[in-house]
Amino acid sequence: MERQRPRRIFLTGFSGSGKSAVAALVAAALGWRALDTDDIIEERSGRSIPDIFARDGEARFRELEAQALREAANQPDVVVATGGGIVQSAANRRLMADDGFVVCLEGRPEVLWQRIREAGHSATERPLLAGPDPLGRIRVLKAQRQPFYALADYTAHTDGIDLPRVAEEVVRAWRRLSARAARDPDRLSSEPVGADAGEDACWVNAESARYPVYVEWGALARLGERLREAGLSGAAHVISDEHVWHHYGEAVLASLRQAGLEADSYVVPAGETSKTLTTASHLYEWLASRRAERGHAVVALGGGMVGDLAGFTAATYLRGLPLVHVPTSLLAMVDASIGGKVAVNLSEAKNLVGAFYQPRLVVTDVSALTTLPARELTSGWAEVVKHALIMDPDLLSTLETRVADLRRLEPEATTAVVRRNVELKAQVVSEDERETTGRRTILNYGHTVAHGLEAASEYEALLHGEAVAVGMVAAAEIGREMGVTPSALAERQAAVLASFGLPWQTPGIDPERALAAMALDKKVSGRAVRWVLLEGVGRPVLRDDVPDTLVRQAVRQACRVAGKRGGRRG
Ligand SMILES: NC(=O)c1ccc[n+]([C@@H]2O[C@H](COP(=O)([O-])OP(=O)(O)OC[C@H]3O[C@@H](n4cnc5c(N)ncnc54)[C@H](O)[C@@H]3O)[C@@H](O)[C@H]2O)c1
Repeated sequence: MERQRPRRIFLTGFSGSGKSAVAALVAAALGWRALDTDDIIEERSGRSIPDIFARDGEARFRELEAQALREAANQPDVVVATGGGIVQSAANRRLMADDGFVVCLEGRPEVLWQRIREAGHSATERPLLAGPDPLGRIRVLKAQRQPFYALADYTAHTDGIDLPRVAEEVVRAWRRLSARAARDPDRLSSEPVGADAGEDACWVNAESARYPVYVEWGALARLGERLREAGLSGAAHVISDEHVWHHYGEAVLASLRQAGLEADSYVVPAGETSKTLTTASHLYEWLASRRAERGHAVVALGGGMVGDLAGFTAATYLRGLPLVHVPTSLLAMVDASIGGKVAVNLSEAKNLVGAFYQPRLVVTDVSALTTLPARELTSGWAEVVKHALIMDPDLLSTLETRVADLRRLEPEATTAVVRRNVELKAQVVSEDERETTGRRTILNYGHTVAHGLEAASEYEALLHGEAVAVGMVAAAEIGREMGVTPSALAERQAAVLASFGLPWQTPGIDPERALAAMALDKKVSGRAVRWVLLEGVGRPVLRDDVPDTLVRQAVRQACRVAGKRGGRRG
């Protein structure tokens, strides 16, 4: 068997992914030699790479690089660290695939840049990174090259892993996969799918990570392809709930498998009762039984419950597996899948155990809304209305004029509105990933009262969006009393909520219990409540001086049996 394995390993990947160090370690483990195409170029030409770039340009450098690769590929028993851009040439890829095994070392741009700096290299030694924003350059170049990196026979993830362990993984992959891979020398030659990847995505630029969110009608068909473009290969472990699985499970598995990923699934009962540490521990056992590795993806297919549970599991198993959100409820599409909050519930309170853990990518198939139960869909519109009120007057006008199209899920209008909401949430999260500057706090508009109402009804009578709708009405009432919110705006808000079938009031909930829950929230956080009030559309203000009397009045009004204003409308 050993004889059939190719006796060359090529390491590809961006600068800073550890190719030279890993090549040396792999070579030592196999008793081979380590080569580096950059070293060969400098030795043969007697010049430094920055000098070649500066005097002869990139095209000449690429010629010399191809020559260096040919020289390395002529030798047996070698591990070759290649230049970061080498994969973009089909001829180079053919050369590496012909009796060679190609492994891509993958890492996030922030980690790559840190490694480049730690190695004592300045951007000037990397001509392609020169300029005022080397990290930005890495992001752009890496995104362009990603579809080419994704062609590798195997991808080893290096974030947070020491390089000796990466080297062991490369040797294991060579032993396991290289004989089969080498049977097809043309396997890397064709132009990769999605060489223009990322152009049609919204991007979240959080401090800890940058990731694309693809929002399309019918996006599920390309799910596997999107994972490959993002550098995910090997296996994808899909977590879903039984309702969502019934509709989309098979299609998701098919798309992943078609893209060459090994896909399996774990389906939990639908509903909040699954969002627990007990379910998470079952998921850990399942991942262990599937021999999940650091580079394998966890795919969260479902609403916010599945996103939080699968996200929490991905964040904690092996100290973090790459996470892919595939949100299927409106709430998950416009809110829960963006921003990196993952959590499970304890009996004491919801979302008590959690983390900030950003996904690797988000694939949003807006057509999944066609199977979402009507009440869940209506509830999701509350977050959309909230985003419009706090951030986007144009979006508010669109909601008002296109309400009929949106409520019947007309594909074009609905996709555009979901995409806009993703952009808005992405913008806030990018500015304040961990809720430290106050920017992210504006997303809590309507949520202070909503949490009280949800807790008072023990999370049973009200869906989250319904509670947020009532909470926004209460916040507008408080704002009006304080002279912050114009009456016309409060009326406009009420009208748009009603047009989407959302409630203004929630009769049947004991207002005193809601107030007690709000007081408890305040006590637990140890801080004054920061109310988000609206001065105008797109003009939220944070206030911690809301008088208790006004809060009591607004909550009692919210819980009143449908009176003059009517209760649930629409
Ligand atoms: N992480 C965050 O930032 C964040 C933000 C808001 C809410 N959340 C969490 O999200 C959860 C609520 O999310 P949710 O409202 O999506 O609830 P959910 O995930 O429980 O979904 C609601 C119901 O709709 C079903 N469903 C979902 N998509 C469907 C589809 N396309 N077709 C048919 N049925 C479908 C589900 O099976 C479930 O029965 C809560 O746990 C909340 O704490 C998290």
